Amino acid sequence: MSPKKIIIDTDPGQDDAVAILLALASPEDVELLGITAVAGNVPLPLTARNARIICELAGRTDVPVFAGCDAPLKRKLVTAEHVHGKTGLDGPQLAEPTMPLQDRHAVDFIIDTLRAEPPGTVTLCPIGPLTNIATAMLRAPDIIARIERIVLMGGAYFEVGNITPAAEFNIYVDPEAAEIVFKAGVPLVVMPLDVTHKALTTKARIDAFRALGTKVGDMVAAWTDFFERFDMEKYGSEGAPLHDPCVIAWLIDPHLFKGRHINVEIETVSDLTLGMTVADWWGVTDRAPNATFIGDLHADGFYALLTSRLARL
Ligand code: RIB
Ligand code: CA
Repeated sequence: MSPKKIIIDTDPGQDDAVAILLALASPEDVELLGITAVAGNVPLPLTARNARIICELAGRTDVPVFAGCDAPLKRKLVTAEHVHGKTGLDGPQLAEPTMPLQDRHAVDFIIDTLRAEPPGTVTLCPIGPLTNIATAMLRAPDIIARIERIVLMGGAYFEVGNITPAAEFNIYVDPEAAEIVFKAGVPLVVMPLDVTHKALTTKARIDAFRALGTKVGDMVAAWTDFFERFDMEKYGSEGAPLHDPCVIAWLIDPHLFKGRHINVEIETVSDLTLGMTVADWWGVTDRAPNATFIGDLHADGFYALLTSRLARL
């Protein structure tokens, strides 16, 4: 089977970095057409910087990086320096990128690419707030039918929220954007905290990254060492959830994951539950299913795949 053409929309973020590296290490599975940065974990200038640092680390300065929206559709930006550090990629010392940022706006790149590629051949992989994706849909509704599928990291149901008691960060930052994406009618695969919290960066797994003996392995180990301190303190867990790489791993081997095709709607009104993904997991409503909501994964299989692919870089 030929590799899936994808666009990664991202707010790096240490876990975003690992997702991008996994994609770049898997050319037989995914062809990364471009990376679109969005404001999220840290402000846009930093997410656009970080995306280029990651491409340079992988020796892939040929991958075009675009800057997108610097704020949610209707709300003030909420960031997550408390998790990812001031730069968004805290942990190891990093040199500033030298590869250029593309002049075109990320939203224009998404629209142009979907119009240029045959319908149903491009998969969108948002792993940050959904502002760029929703803006593209609003600006060019004709692209919606041309999207093969959207595989995104966001939301939570049984695991409840990580930025508020009810909401997961990516959805919470721009709930109006999320509502547009979840209502667009595009086939959706959702990687919520319910599954990513089962993909923990344990010491043995981080040691396996370091044992690769490569710059990429050392960098990923340093990033996950830094990134895990917040979640381990908060949850008392033996590691941090490696959220975003779950999206790319699903494209490579969907059998690692288990979920249900259900209705998922977004809370955009109540301050108390803003950004909640209201997932009808038990089918108690007659709302039409619109998303494959992933609840479980084979964690050892996921880390074996991730580590073996990172060894290629
Ligand atoms: O809630 C986890 C998500 O928020 C991940 O994508 C992480 O990178 C942050 O963007
Ligand atoms: Ca992210």
